[in-house]
Amino acid sequence: MNKVLVIGASSAQAQATARLFAAEGSRLFLAGRDQQKLDDVAADLKARGAAQVESLTLDLNDFSRHQELIAAADAALEGLEGALIAHGSLGDQAAGQADYAVAQGELTTNLLSPISLLTILANLLEPRGGGCLAVISSVAGDRGRQSNYIYGTAKGGLSVFLSGLRNRLHRAGVRVVTIKPGFVDSPMTAHFKKGLLWAKPEAVAKKIHCAMLKGKDVVYAPAFWRLIMFIIKALPEPIFKRLNL
Ligand SMILES: NC(=O)c1ccc[n+]([C@@H]2O[C@H](COP(=O)([O-])OP(=O)(O)OC[C@H]3O[C@@H](n4cnc5c(N)ncnc54)[C@H](OP(=O)(O)O)[C@@H]3O)[C@@H](O)[C@H]2O)c1
Repeated sequence: MNKVLVIGASSAQAQATARLFAAEGSRLFLAGRDQQKLDDVAADLKARGAAQVESLTLDLNDFSRHQELIAAADAALEGLEGALIAHGSLGDQAAGQADYAVAQGELTTNLLSPISLLTILANLLEPRGGGCLAVISSVAGDRGRQSNYIYGTAKGGLSVFLSGLRNRLHRAGVRVVTIKPGFVDSPMTAHFKKGLLWAKPEAVAKKIHCAMLKGKDVVYAPAFWRLIMFIIKALPEPIFKRLNL
């Protein structure tokens, strides 16, 4: 895959993935809200071998600019072949429980913004009959837990949307990849105590890169999360609701 749009390019997982594409000499278009961070990421990717790196600065919750972003990336790359959607926020669950406006903000960033972008990207790639759309969802979307069910609702909804989109675009030859990381040591989780289940962004990036090239459907990263979530999903509700998760 030679022409890739990276949305939320300052994310640790996105940057680590973009480095793998850069090492292959890919052409990249970066989107994010912080111009300085995008400039730093772009310089790093050029130094690592990217054939071209361009960028657009925007708040990804500004839906009115989504069309402009994808048109700019498509023009700059002379026909984008792949997109990785990586932006997200891990909001304060307690604040979201207390105030719906906070919850709505989380749902906007983690669910509605990706859906808006995917709608435009899907309608661009479907008639062309090829391409790959990869999105970072989360294991948090597999089952609602009291500690983060607002974030989990957004990611769960996103995973369902991606499932439907994959089903729709399969016949057109457009691949849709759902990435479900577990705990990743990134700025988003800087305040968490780390343990055995934690992964580095570089390890998740290898899975994302491989999944985009091979067109996998749903990827847990690391892979052991598939088993963990299988067990968590299998727990009967009368037991699950009593657990402190
Ligand atoms: N870390 C984990 O444990 C974990 C686990 C499962 C899934 N995920 C998901 O993985 C993805 C990448 O996260 P990460 O771990 O790489 O954390 P990260 O480095 O903190 O990345 C989060 C990114 O989202 C961007 N972002 C948030 N709101 C935005 C907005 N309104 N407009 C533009 N950009 C916005 C941030 O931009 P700024 O740099 O400008 O702040 C940042 O680049 C997210 O979707 C996250 O939900 C993370």
